[in-house]
Amino acid sequence: MNIACIMKRKSVRSYSEKPVTGEMLEKLAAYLDEMNHSEGVFGNKVRLQYLENKGGNEKLGTYGVIKGARFFVAAACKKAAYSLEDTGYLFEKMILFATDIGLATVILGGTFGRSGFARAMGLTEDEVLPVVTPVGYAGDGKSLLGRLIKSNAGNRKPWAELFFDSDFNTPLAENDEFAEVLEAVRQAPSAINGQPWRIVKEGTEFHFYSAGQTEMSRIDMGIALCHFEIAAKEKGFTGCFQVLDQKRDNNRKYLVSWVRR
Ligand SMILES: Cc1cc2nc3c(=O)[nH]c(=O)nc-3n(C[C@H](O)[C@H](O)[C@H](O)COP(=O)(O)O)c2cc1C
Repeated sequence: MNIACIMKRKSVRSYSEKPVTGEMLEKLAAYLDEMNHSEGVFGNKVRLQYLENKGGNEKLGTYGVIKGARFFVAAACKKAAYSLEDTGYLFEKMILFATDIGLATVILGGTFGRSGFARAMGLTEDEVLPVVTPVGYAGDGKSLLGRLIKSNAGNRKPWAELFFDSDFNTPLAENDEFAEVLEAVRQAPSAINGQPWRIVKEGTEFHFYSAGQTEMSRIDMGIALCHFEIAAKEKGFTGCFQVLDQKRDNNRKYLVSWVRR
C-alpha cells in the first residue's frame, strides 16, 4: 500500500458477475485475518468478515445504490471509545489492500440493509456494524442513485480549508515538505464526501481535528489517519500518533496528533 494506491482508489457502485476466486480470494482472506489481529491507533480491534449474498433470510441489500454486488466485507466493532475511528483506520487499510490487488470497493455506511448483514455476521449485543463494502470487479452499468452520488465524488475541498499552520487562521503553505502526505489525506473517501478532517501543523506536530458531527465522520477521521500514516512512511518521515492536550473549539473537535521523531 502506497500513495499511488491511495490516488488510484475510487468508489465503484457497479459490479460484474465475476466472483472473486482462487489466489485473489486467498490474498484477501489472509489480509482480513491480519486486520482482525491488528489494533487501530487507539488500541481497538475490528472484526472483518467476508460475506456472500445468497438471498433468502440473510439477504445482503444495498437499497439499489450498488449494482451487481454479491460479495462483501463487513466490519463490526465493540461499542467503545474511539472504536469507530479505529474501524475507519483498519477498514481503510483493507480497502487499499483490495485496491492494490485489483479489486473494486465502495465504503457503505448508510445505504445497506443493516439487519441482513448483522444476521449474516452474527453481530453480538456489544457490537455495532458501522460499514460494509462490496468487493469484486467493476461492472459497466451504474444504478441511477449511484450515478447521482458519483457526480460529486471527485470534488475535494481546497487545501486552504483543510490544512493550517500553527492556528486555524493561517492556511499551510502548499509547498510544505509534507504536501504529498497531506494530499493523500485530502483524497481520502468520506461519508457524503464531507471531508471532516482539519490538520494544524505546529513545528514537528500535526494536530488532527474533526469538523464532522456524525458517527460516520468518526469513521472518516480514522481513514484520514490511515492515509497520513501510509504516506508519511513512504516519504521517509518517522513519527507516531499521540493524544496531546489540545484546545477544542466550537466548530472542530481535537482527535489526536502525529508527532515527528
Ligand atoms: C464512512 C463512509 C460512509 C459512506 N457511505 C456511503 C453510502 O452509504 N453509500 C454510498 O453510495 N457511498 C458511501 N460512501 C462513499 C462516499 O460517497 C465516497 O467516498 C465519496 O463520495 C468520495 O468519492 P470516492 O470514494 O470515489 O473518492 C461512504 C464513504 C465513507 C468513507
